[in-house]
Amino acid sequence: MVKAIYPGSFDPMTKGHLDIIQRSSKLFDEVIMAVVGNPGKSPLLPVEKRKELMSAALKDLNGVTVDSFQGLTVDYAKQNNVTILIRGLRAISDFEAELGMAQANKELFPELETIFLMSKAEYSFISSSTVKEIARLGGDVSKFVPPAVNDYLKQHFSRGTK
Ligand code: COA
Repeated sequence: MVKAIYPGSFDPMTKGHLDIIQRSSKLFDEVIMAVVGNPGKSPLLPVEKRKELMSAALKDLNGVTVDSFQGLTVDYAKQNNVTILIRGLRAISDFEAELGMAQANKELFPELETIFLMSKAEYSFISSSTVKEIARLGGDVSKFVPPAVNDYLKQHFSRGTK
């Protein structure tokens, strides 16, 4: 059984992330979509809320589970018998950072293979930050995020929370 992890901040999950996880679920027996608490970022959503919104978006997808962890991705992978790490590539600009991460992870855990899936063109410009900025300024992000995320952002920013 091949077990994969798709780690990220997912603050919040977008349709770009959803596309990657849907395609990954067809390639591997089990895929864990894992929220990583990244100390370098100031998140809008608490980890538990991010997981809740991801679970809602993924409820009809077989073989996908949602989790979170702190610390190294390779340690989580070792502890959970994960041998594949999935990342999405939206543009050339993603490549350099992703290559560095893949190489570092390979040094730390040689059995872990990083697999890159190319984002669909229609999602290649979406990022969580873009979505948050549009929503914060009153724009419509329903095209870019799953319905539960859209509802959350609308409610959050209508409370006047910037
Ligand atoms: N569709 C839409 N957006 C996408 C996307 C896709 N397919 N792929 C990436 N993005 C966006 C994200 O929305 C995010 O946007 P933001 O910066 O506006 O929030 C951005 O690209 C970065 O993606 P993310 O998945 O959040 O990556 P990251 O760079 O924050 O974190 C981790 C990458 C979590 C995998 C990495 O930091 C990690 O493994 N951390 C654990 C600690 C560790 O092991 N460190 C050593 C790594 S070598």
